[in-house]
Amino acid sequence: MKITSAEFVSSYADVDKCPKDGRPEFAFIGRSNVGKSSLINMLVNSRHLAKTSSTPGKTQTINHFIINSSWYLVDLPGYGYAHANKTLRAGFGRIIEDYVSKRDGLSCLFILIDSRLEPQAIDLDFIQWAGSREIPIALIFTKIDKLKRNELQKNMKQYEKMLLTRWEELPTTILTSATNKAGRDEILHLIEETIGQ
Ligand code: GTP
Ligand code: MG
Repeated sequence: MKITSAEFVSSYADVDKCPKDGRPEFAFIGRSNVGKSSLINMLVNSRHLAKTSSTPGKTQTINHFIINSSWYLVDLPGYGYAHANKTLRAGFGRIIEDYVSKRDGLSCLFILIDSRLEPQAIDLDFIQWAGSREIPIALIFTKIDKLKRNELQKNMKQYEKMLLTRWEELPTTILTSATNKAGRDEILHLIEETIGQ
């Protein structure tokens, strides 16, 4: 799919204020600093559409971007890190929990995982929590440019093993890098197929 336009719509602190036009919506979630905002920029070929930072906790609200005047990409805050007091926070945060539980008609929730790390409890818990709500999900491994192929394979295998102890089959999984654009075509293809259904 070709991206012909990408525009910021608005930021929302409350899921009830989000657009109600029923357009297909694809959201990005994951730990703070995993690369959600960078991935959105990579998909739409823009450096600055979504705001990124090397410090965790940059995105604090729900941010809608309208693509090709017809569907939304949504940048969400991260979980696992509370900016204000620099401590790990309980749960996933109000905005995230509300968004995932209340946002009807979500076309796909992309759950981002840092490919450099061994399986993290908070990510497995989030996958479990979102998956049990019967939301369509896909797993996106980020920052693969930072790993050697064999390291990546090792981490992927560990994730697979952990997930298969809880799920009968694995969700769609895509390996990505915002730096070298790996995985871009796969994500856009998944979006195109979902919209076309
Ligand atoms: P929060 O909004 O704080 O939750 O973070 P986020 O998940 O939106 O992460 P963001 O996109 O702001 O990126 C965090 C840091 O990781 C930045 O310094 C990015 O440049 C870097 N980064 C993101 N994606 C990649 C990638 O694919 N490869 C590399 N090497 N760095 C990346
Ligand atoms: Mg962000």
